[in-house]
Amino acid sequence: TIHPVILSGGSGTRLWPVSRHLYPKQLLPLIGDNSMLADTALRVGESTRFAAPTVICNEEHRFLVAEELRKVQAHTGTPPGSIILEPFGRNTAPAAAVAALQLAERDPNALLLLLPSDHVIADTQAFLRAIDRAANAAANGWLVTFGMTPTRPETGYGYIRQGTALDAGDGCYQVAEFVEKPDQATAARYLADGGYAWNSGMFLLPVRTLLSELERLQPDALTAARSAVAHAQEDLDFLRLDAGSFEAAPSISIDHAVMEHTDRAAVVPAEIGWSDVGSWASLWEIADKDADGNAISGDVVTQDARNCLLRSEQHLLAAIGVEDLVVIAQDDAVLVVPRDRAQDVGAFAKTLRAEQ
Ligand code: GDD
Ligand code: MG
Repeated sequence: TIHPVILSGGSGTRLWPVSRHLYPKQLLPLIGDNSMLADTALRVGESTRFAAPTVICNEEHRFLVAEELRKVQAHTGTPPGSIILEPFGRNTAPAAAVAALQLAERDPNALLLLLPSDHVIADTQAFLRAIDRAANAAANGWLVTFGMTPTRPETGYGYIRQGTALDAGDGCYQVAEFVEKPDQATAARYLADGGYAWNSGMFLLPVRTLLSELERLQPDALTAARSAVAHAQEDLDFLRLDAGSFEAAPSISIDHAVMEHTDRAAVVPAEIGWSDVGSWASLWEIADKDADGNAISGDVVTQDARNCLLRSEQHLLAAIGVEDLVVIAQDDAVLVVPRDRAQDVGAFAKTLRAEQ
């Protein structure tokens, strides 16, 4: 079996003002009826392939996360997952280290399926097939990534250059180069080159290789994680990491910490209807739109508006003669931003929080 570990520590600042520190985007029903966290858990809710999921999140979100897992469990009838609480975020490498250490105690040969909770995957069957294709390589010690076909020079993603095919012959390739969040010119060059895929942010990782690569490449993160697990406390259904220990962990992503440097990375190119719901622009891309290209939710009227994302919870929002605009009206905040500047919302939301 494969052990899914769902990362739910991000606060999704680029989706401000809907996504808030205490109510981050992965816990909101932004697309459809479920939260993205619930959808993520549902995708791996099939007990023949997968063990019950572990969610690793900030302690502030513990009850919201527990509630989402309860909903999933009611739906799948599988055993409940477990929830590991971080006292504060240290990005994804320490979180992955914690999950890997916990799993290794039970089964040193375990395969860990690291999953972000902020994605939409339209084709679950294709997603499951991609995991099946990755399993062989992972069992042979490869850190397997999933390669998505790039469609624009996005700078918010990792880029993977596909190398030679692995022996097993199940559509798995060595990673020739992994570049996390390149600048605009580099991303444009990769796109023109054609030999690159986007990193989906999902990984199928043999716990043994992950731990040995962390030991080699990011020993401080591993040491802090080990101590945080050793001194963790059980609290109701939660495992609370030791704050004093975890504090020493450097804040670094798994991509920067491991994937950019390891020579044990492999990639499975996959068409799974993947999209990252990273910003209002990407939400617009995947949303249902009217004949004028407007994605609308709530109390909104338009006249000669085109290709806008318009959401209003409590107020009537009227958009007239505007194009390529994002307007998000909440009770206590209104965001107006051109769609092609949607990336800037995150930095702004962070300054707001710093000022409060
Ligand atoms: N537990 C925990 N703790 N989870 C975290 C933390 C943390 O400190 N920080 C982030 N996460 C969660 C987020 O909630 C998200 O589900 C996932 O980890 C990935 O983090 P992001 O911050 O969203 O990463 P990213 O989008 O900038 O980049 C990653 O995903 C891209 C695809 O969406 C990278 O893997 C890129 O290479 C990739 O292209
Ligand atoms: Mg993300």
